[in-house]
Amino acid sequence: MTITIVGSGKVGAAVALNCGLRELDNIILLDVIEGLPQGEAMDINHQLSERGIDSKIKGSNSYEDMKNSDFIVLVAGMGRKPGMTRMDLLNKNASIVKDVATKISTHAKNATLIVVTNPLDPMTYVALKTTKFNKNKVIGMGGMLDLSRFKSFIHDASGCSRASIQAMVISEHGENMLPLIRFSSIGGIPISEFLSEEKSQEIFEKTKKVAAEVIALKGATVYAPGNAVATMIESMKKNKKEVIPVSAYLDGEYGISDLCIGVPVVLGSNGIEKIIELELNEFERKIFDLGVTSVREAINLINQK
Ligand code: LAC
Repeated sequence: MTITIVGSGKVGAAVALNCGLRELDNIILLDVIEGLPQGEAMDINHQLSERGIDSKIKGSNSYEDMKNSDFIVLVAGMGRKPGMTRMDLLNKNASIVKDVATKISTHAKNATLIVVTNPLDPMTYVALKTTKFNKNKVIGMGGMLDLSRFKSFIHDASGCSRASIQAMVISEHGENMLPLIRFSSIGGIPISEFLSEEKSQEIFEKTKKVAAEVIALKGATVYAPGNAVATMIESMKKNKKEVIPVSAYLDGEYGISDLCIGVPVVLGSNGIEKIIELELNEFERKIFDLGVTSVREAINLINQK
């Protein structure tokens, strides 16, 4: 099996390293910039060699090399600069995603496509419509990353091991993301048994804002996104059927149709094997609907182009 990563910048390289360290497969790092994917591949291979890991990373500047890939990770596009929202990247990245998705549909018809490019939910929708792949095979990586931050803040506030924390974040991977305190736990025990309402609300807000803080400090988020993609691929490649929040195409679920947004799904060898519909309370549904509106407006803007 082969994983092709389209876009060999920092995040693409982090995806390659995380997939390599988990021995998920042979990996092709692809980019239009001559030398970049080749250099990244060499560097990562040296680390894998020392670890005794035989997954190989190959750098390439040719889209033809993605043929027969089992997984394609679409990272290509502009990253946000300090002070920007993910939605500020909409027009620029929509054209890049359309171009790359067209190439993917030509060279890797049977692949499962994981989208990382922001704004994540509209870009997942663009990739799905452009490739015309089955809706269970085009998956946006957003909530998996958001929950890793949510878990980090729950760990800091509770003092409990990160290994005991289960967290869930749905809705837009953006300004209207929804960390679900009610559906998160420590050792299976509800968060409310550990944290006050005030502390939970503080963590809710910090989870939404922390990516922008990292970008302001170091210019980009890298390791957490790279890890999140590898976790999603591992669940599908090993048919682990993990329950993971991803940007998925809704066709009536949550009362929503023809849109991609973050929801809990079962990720297995057939990609999105089940969309889990949660009974949201009034507050949760309000935030979820704000995310739906934001994504719908973005898709409408793209379609007007
Ligand atoms: C982040 C980017 C990948 O949340 O959207 O770090």
